Amino acid sequence: MHDVKLSPSMMCVDLFHMAETIRVFEACNIPYLHIDVMDGSFVPNLMLGTETIRQLRRFTSIPMDIHLMIENPDEKLEWFEPCGGDYVSIHVETTRHLQRLLAKVRNLGAKPMVAINPATPLAAIEEVLCDVDAVLVMTVNPGYAGQKLVPQALEKIKRLRAMLDNKGFEDVEIEVDGNVSRENALKMREAGANIFVAGTSLLFRPGRLEDHIAVFNNAMTGI
Ligand code: DX5
Ligand code: ZN
Repeated sequence: MHDVKLSPSMMCVDLFHMAETIRVFEACNIPYLHIDVMDGSFVPNLMLGTETIRQLRRFTSIPMDIHLMIENPDEKLEWFEPCGGDYVSIHVETTRHLQRLLAKVRNLGAKPMVAINPATPLAAIEEVLCDVDAVLVMTVNPGYAGQKLVPQALEKIKRLRAMLDNKGFEDVEIEVDGNVSRENALKMREAGANIFVAGTSLLFRPGRLEDHIAVFNNAMTGI
């Protein structure tokens, strides 16, 4: 089983406490920062952009987990200056030339990840599983924080894990994004996920951030 990794959703951070929040992530050895890039077209919201990524890179060396929810990602990938150690996820629903774009992510030195919406069948990504380091399974419809889990997503994670293992892609990781609460994370972990996008359901709610991280880590120990 892959190691459990937490990838906090940076769109959920209180802007007025950004610096201290990142220092907590560093102290807790958080491995990635999840960057939701939304263009108001592929998804009905506008979120983090190129300058935010640049500023975060100047402030911290935690690698980025860049989730592109944009139309025409082929034309825009370089805008985000992917670096070695970063994940960049491309939605299967956004490009006609998915394989080429995933290869381009790798050529730029980053780790390619393919993202898939709740309504998109797994068959749509089957042919590119050999080209990715991870698959991002959306467990809500992308666009907003604070939504409820799409329940059939759990079974989809299980089917994906089996598909990857049967094809010899045991090394490919599964990331989950949307309503990753402690309770849902346990089910997602059992289904085969190992990278958890942590938004309002897990970290960004009342209480101390350090405590939420510790409770999550303890819950995941031994699973
Ligand atoms: C969109 C975002 C949201 C959100 C996740 O891709 O990543 O899904 O911040 O966190 P929740 O659903 O817990 O608010
Ligand atoms: Zn995301």
